[in-house]
Amino acid sequence: MALVNLDGIDVGYESSGRGAPAVCLVHGTGGTGAVWMRQLEGLADVARVVAPDLPGHGRTGGSLPRSIAESADFVARFLDALGLDRVVIGGHSMGGAIALQVALGRPERVAGLALIGTGARLRVLPRLLELLATAYPEGVDLLMGMALAAGAPAELRASLHRQTLANRPGVVLGDLQACDAFDALARLGEITAPTLALCGEEDQLTPPTYARFFGERIAGARVVIARGAGHYVQVEQPDATTAALRDLVTAVACAGAGRAARVG
Ligand code: COA
Repeated sequence: MALVNLDGIDVGYESSGRGAPAVCLVHGTGGTGAVWMRQLEGLADVARVVAPDLPGHGRTGGSLPRSIAESADFVARFLDALGLDRVVIGGHSMGGAIALQVALGRPERVAGLALIGTGARLRVLPRLLELLATAYPEGVDLLMGMALAAGAPAELRASLHRQTLANRPGVVLGDLQACDAFDALARLGEITAPTLALCGEEDQLTPPTYARFFGERIAGARVVIARGAGHYVQVEQPDATTAALRDLVTAVACAGAGRAARVG
């Protein structure tokens, strides 16, 4: 765990490895950078990997971003603070929307894009928003009841439930409100970065149809549907997730080396 100061606010982030292009992984609703622990370990031999806690989450102070665009601005400033100009950016769920927003708004910063358990539009069940606002533990029950594949281990289910419930009041609701307002369905044709869309076969929150839509609208995007995984594919199928990310990072690095050789 490392800390960097951004405009007077301490930002906590996980970090591992070395090598270019660097990889930045963005967590989802009510999460922290630690949700990427297995990918931080598994990619360390090919790339520098960083995974920030978004404002209001984990060890990062500051107020909760009110929109996906605000979080994308935060991620760009975080990368500036670490001196990372151009990265492979990946995100899970809300974090995937943030990664997509960075790629749309700042394409020059994005060497590759990984959209994991996410969608270009993230409408949220009205009942879920209502429960999170009025009966928080029941809202978390409903959310986490849809978060994992049927066969997920009970300990994993309990630990993700506990972590989500432990968020400060308003964080999970605020994150899901930001998701609910996000809609980039009409803009996917603008993405030119090499893209991976990865989704658990049993994902009920952002179903495989959302990943296939990325495949239809983003030129050359690779779609991977992970067997036996739900919405938290990077913790339910960590090796498959790391392998898919590794393929993306390697392809981006090879393309960069080819370009450099042609210029040289
Ligand atoms: N990619 C591709 N297609 C998408 C999409 C995406 N990201 N998001 C929506 N669509 C499609 C839907 O499949 C639907 O197509 P259809 O009319 O052919 O069935 C259409 O766009 C409209 O869907 P949506 O915007 O979701 O509105 P809705 O009124 O049909 O449903 C919900 C609203 C909340 C019931 C629904 O989005 C849902 O079940 N969401 C999943 C549960 C949830 O809360 N997830 C949290 C996400 S962070």
